[in-house]
Amino acid sequence: MSLLAETESIVKQFEFTDNDVNKSVKEFLRQMDEGLEKDGTSLSQIPTYVTGVPKGTEKGLYMAVDLGGTNFRVCSVKLNGDTTFNITSDKVAVPKELMRAKKAEELFAFLALQIKKFLEKHHGDHFEAHIRRRMTVSSPDGYRDEHVFHMGFTFSFPVQQVGINKGTLIRWTKGFDIPDAIGKDVCALLQTEIDKLHLPVKVAALVNDTVGTLMAYSYTSPGSHGAVLGAIFGTGTNGAYVEKLSNLKKPLVGEYDTSTGDMVINIEWGSFDNQLNVLPNTPWDEALDKETPNPGIQMYEKRVSGMFLGELLRLVIIDLMKNPNVSLFRDENSSTNDRRSTTDIAETSDLYKPWGIDTSILSHAAGDHTPKLSVLRDTLQENLQISAPAYEDAQAFKAIAGAIGRRAARLAAVAIGAVVLKSGRLSDGTNDPIDVGVDGSLVENYPYFEDMIYEALRVIDGIGEEGAKRIRIGLAQDGSGVGAALIALVARTMEKNAPTDEVLGELRTEAKAAGSKDTAAATTAVSDESDKPGVTSA
Ligand code: GLC
Repeated sequence: MSLLAETESIVKQFEFTDNDVNKSVKEFLRQMDEGLEKDGTSLSQIPTYVTGVPKGTEKGLYMAVDLGGTNFRVCSVKLNGDTTFNITSDKVAVPKELMRAKKAEELFAFLALQIKKFLEKHHGDHFEAHIRRRMTVSSPDGYRDEHVFHMGFTFSFPVQQVGINKGTLIRWTKGFDIPDAIGKDVCALLQTEIDKLHLPVKVAALVNDTVGTLMAYSYTSPGSHGAVLGAIFGTGTNGAYVEKLSNLKKPLVGEYDTSTGDMVINIEWGSFDNQLNVLPNTPWDEALDKETPNPGIQMYEKRVSGMFLGELLRLVIIDLMKNPNVSLFRDENSSTNDRRSTTDIAETSDLYKPWGIDTSILSHAAGDHTPKLSVLRDTLQENLQISAPAYEDAQAFKAIAGAIGRRAARLAAVAIGAVVLKSGRLSDGTNDPIDVGVDGSLVENYPYFEDMIYEALRVIDGIGEEGAKRIRIGLAQDGSGVGAALIALVARTMEKNAPTDEVLGELRTEAKAAGSKDTAAATTAVSDESDKPGVTSA
């Protein structure tokens, strides 16, 4: 079989037809309902204890930290109350050895230390004042709550949440492995280390990145309804949506506000259809799953998200190179190579290393429309040490990478489509946009990812051309910072046992006092050193 014919046969195996999309949407909806009824299901449907989405009028200065994968980010967020915000943030890489530390304490002590450094650098005045107060105030804690930064903790791993700032780690994903932390309350672990450093910070809210995205998108683009879904398509993939409390059949242990009748649910859709009722399963999907530390789990994520697509492509390419009937990256002599050379792959090439290919190469492949694919060929040379790849090689590589990316986007449409259908908004009698906030490297960087999602949304029964037009997918960058700050605000109102308006009133007064400087558009990084945290000082 020629390389072209073999490539076509592989591409076919990654096809995910309109019929497959529709079957999967039905199954997704079924598994969503199952997850609302009981624990231990494929879709965990975790209640977040967040009972509403913001309106865009919220105000105040809050802190947020984000542990989601390779980096730890610390920020302070000033919500301006007019759908804009200002954010100051610092990011550090999490040392590899801490991702697999013996004791949870080692990782969390590192996180607390970064918070201390951030406060010293960006909120020095406030920090100094706090230290002075600690020495003079005679309350048992040494400080008054009013002077404390309320912080949202974005922790993007599966957590069994039992309250707005309480939740036990179910399992690690994305390369972390600290068994000591499993079953422990991650907020308490962080608070303990913060207290050891005597920082004026209270871990007020525990936030999944998808919940943060949902909140941030609702804050910055408020419609009459708020966003229906916050989703991440990055290293991992997941979504959070607003569910009617009456549909939530499994018992809730913690306290929450029932007045909205709603609850934000963290779907943990990375584990959609672990049982493979509808998910596609090529030999390469199987091989990849076996290589992971959690075989049989996160089966949807392994077909959709950035951590896995590069490896999936690598496994297919290696197989194709081994096929004696085709020549991929192999020339008989220089006359069969349009660069008049012979292709050579360095022995140390990342192509030969498990997990050696970064998913960004799929983006390069999809984005190269040059007549002889010269951009992709240069990338293969630079990133994978493949010298003089021929045009035919690059064509095969592009076709296979494209098939993997396209299947991922169509699978992404399954989750988005199911949640939109579940929201009931398509039959609300209006023509209003239905907002979906997304974030993550795939949606941001993979060319046409969003277009391919829309193409699949249009064929879903119950959505169709007209419905797809109403679905407005928008990027919600900084969801982890702004969203976490917003949830810290919600938590603060719950804790004070005061009606939201009263606390917001205090915040407004404080924001007024802080003046109207720095009201630049959202995502502008500025320092807000003169502002006081969270609520007014008594
Ligand atoms: C993984 C985590 C999930 C997170 C997602 C995106 O799927 O389990 O909690 O939301 O990655 O970061």
